[in-house]
Amino acid sequence: MATSVTDRLADLETIRRVTDLRARVAAWRQDGLSVGLVPTMGALHEGHFSLVRKSVAAMDRTIVTLFVNPRQFGPNEDFGTYPRTEEADAAALQRQGAQVLFAPNVEEMYPAGAVTTVSVPGIGDILEGSFRPGFFTGVATVVSKLLIQAAPDVAYFGKKDYQQLCVITRMAADLDLPVKIEGCPIIREADGLALSSRNVYLSPDERAKAPMLHQALNDVAAKVRAGGVEAIADAEAAGAEAILKAGFKQVDYVTVRDAANLAPITDVMKPARILTAAWLGRTRLIDNIPLHD
Ligand code: PAJ
Repeated sequence: MATSVTDRLADLETIRRVTDLRARVAAWRQDGLSVGLVPTMGALHEGHFSLVRKSVAAMDRTIVTLFVNPRQFGPNEDFGTYPRTEEADAAALQRQGAQVLFAPNVEEMYPAGAVTTVSVPGIGDILEGSFRPGFFTGVATVVSKLLIQAAPDVAYFGKKDYQQLCVITRMAADLDLPVKIEGCPIIREADGLALSSRNVYLSPDERAKAPMLHQALNDVAAKVRAGGVEAIADAEAAGAEAILKAGFKQVDYVTVRDAANLAPITDVMKPARILTAAWLGRTRLIDNIPLHD
């Protein structure tokens, strides 16, 4: 009888305790195996799976972490309602070929008395950091803990959260963490909407409007490529206007920034990124594209 693909995959091991994770990684290291880490908050979709597949292809062993990190949610944000689908996530990760799902609870990650935080001033304070105070300190704190706990060779992050990737790259360099931070392409729906765990919040009507965010970024890019630095302010303003006209409630920012440090740009020939955040009803969407392909 033919074996199915799932039959041939080794079981995914779910680990809940840091000591058990360390023991598992230590055993792999004894065998000389390389380790990749994919941090997530679960509710996994193709965007996450693309990172997992990169790790599975390049590394001997892959750990995916699932932790809805309370420290990166503001008091009026969606920590309580964030989608939690661990069973489906685990089944999908097994199919993707990951070996370990590390899914600690809040007490394991932040035992009573835990107060130490990791902040990344500057790049962590602008854009997302200014609209979501404390967000990047929450992210940098949990990601540095995960990197110390799992001690991977490579950790994979999506460019979907472009500023997050910049903050984590800075943090890992500043703390001399012996890990390579790898940024991976944004996975989109056919109509351009970037995949996100929060897309499930969108009503059918909002879902129909959502791709305009990506369209607006493309239009800003075309204007800046044609008009140079002088065209940036007008292109950003026109982009924000188009997003509102598409039915979004509020635009937090549409901005062209240096791709490495997210500073305003003075030279359109250098690598740049166009970033946006906007509210569609009660859902806040973010997206970004490179200025040049
Ligand atoms: P989460 O939103 O679950 O995303 C986990 C990883 O998947 C991030 O690196 C994110 O950039 C990537 N990702 C999400 N959507 C993607 C898409 N459409 N294309 C490519 N990659 C995508 O980001 C977080 O969790 C958290 O802040 C975390 C880093 C886990 C810290 O808590």
